[in-house]
Amino acid sequence: MLAASSGSLDAALKYVIKPLTMSWAVGEATVVQADARTRDYSGFVVSTDPPYYSNIGYADLSDFFYVWLRRVLRDAHPDLFGTVLTPKLEELIASPQRHGGSASAERHFEDGFRQVFTAMRLSAGNDTPITVYYAFKQQERKASDILSTGWATILEAMLAAGWRITATWPLLTELDKRLVASGANALASSIVLVLRPRNADEPVISRRDFIRALRAELPAALTELQQGAIAPVDLAQATIGPGMAVYSRYSRVIESDGSSLSVKSALSLVNQALDELLAEQDGDLDADSRFCLRWYKQFGWKRGDYGIAESMGNALNIPVKRLEHGGVLTAREGSVRLLRPSELPRKWDPAKDDRISVWEVTCHLARAVTTEGTEAAARLMAKANTRVNLEAVQLLAYRLYELAQHKDPEDAGLFNALASEWAPLSAAAQRVDTRGMQGGLDLDAL
Ligand SMILES: C[S@@+](CC[C@H](N)C(=O)[O-])C[C@H]1O[C@@H](n2cnc3c(N)ncnc32)[C@H](O)[C@@H]1O
Repeated sequence: MLAASSGSLDAALKYVIKPLTMSWAVGEATVVQADARTRDYSGFVVSTDPPYYSNIGYADLSDFFYVWLRRVLRDAHPDLFGTVLTPKLEELIASPQRHGGSASAERHFEDGFRQVFTAMRLSAGNDTPITVYYAFKQQERKASDILSTGWATILEAMLAAGWRITATWPLLTELDKRLVASGANALASSIVLVLRPRNADEPVISRRDFIRALRAELPAALTELQQGAIAPVDLAQATIGPGMAVYSRYSRVIESDGSSLSVKSALSLVNQALDELLAEQDGDLDADSRFCLRWYKQFGWKRGDYGIAESMGNALNIPVKRLEHGGVLTAREGSVRLLRPSELPRKWDPAKDDRISVWEVTCHLARAVTTEGTEAAARLMAKANTRVNLEAVQLLAYRLYELAQHKDPEDAGLFNALASEWAPLSAAAQRVDTRGMQGGLDLDAL
């Protein structure tokens, strides 16, 4: 053994031992090798981490170790080490090489997946939900991917097998390298889907009523996710749960022409409802922040015409000069642009700012948390707490992530880092000694 860092034998052993020490607490375990498509699930509570299309060839990978283990363990476990290499045919993986092309490989995976969930529905007990883990490859973790064919097919397979989705929970499963990689999609979460049996005689609902139900039920789910400081990059996927919970409560959602609304279209409606909800949260912001948000939507950090800024400002009753004084934008030669977080002064003191806004605090915190670390950002947060509503800052970070992910991955990374660090940041801010800090200023008097 040459090192103790991740990837070393030392670390690999620790990863194996840690869960084992926890599982002793619930009693003995029996480990068997069986094909998930055909095994009996009677008497089991199912919690599964299934493969996803062609992400990883586990069987091929296993051969690398298997050939060595076989030499040592063949006599002890003849049932497991009887074959020269690991079994391949049963493996649920969409491997074009193994299955004669992409189309038949996908069919092998999807058919097998359906068989597994059908077998579980037939023999697993009805009293407990089953849980299904899904980890996403980084490039698959964009919001638009909740509409990807892969996801829709998998959800459809679960529903067709007689399950309804009652919840989804994002879990942080990556090692703690989070802020180091604060790129837009740097956090790696798994999503846990919670499934319960679904009866064939559930009611039918129209598309319009489905949308109405989404609008009624998603706000509470969104608040809960945001209060749990879910990483913005995971928000869209985590909303699949509450959205699909509505969808799968009905045996069918009918379009106006009488056809059934597909899972893919339902996911698109869930995403749309989420966008609308996030946009509704803008209404609660102070006028300066509303200006900046509108400007950002149109121009990002780019320059725009002074005249446009003036008329946008008029609509909110704020002169552009005041916004400039507020430290959020710069105006010159007939044009205006917002200040990027990286351009904001490090020495900024929220207590001494005579025109502070939620926007300004959000940008400063995003800058501080990504360049100076949690403690420095927490000191700013503690001071800003006396001046603005920090909950609004957190919500704005989510909103900016949503807007930025389509146009600027760097910005998306900044705001994702801020919102996902929110819990440790708030805890650290509470520990900061704020004695001697100046209290809030009366903004109305300005
Ligand atoms: C996403 S991985 C699970 C990884 C595991 N949770 C871990 O942390 O190591 C999916 C697993 O499903 C297994 N698998 C694939 N096809 C299977 C089948 N037909 N029956 C049972 N297991 C299968 C693969 O060998 C792989 O180990």
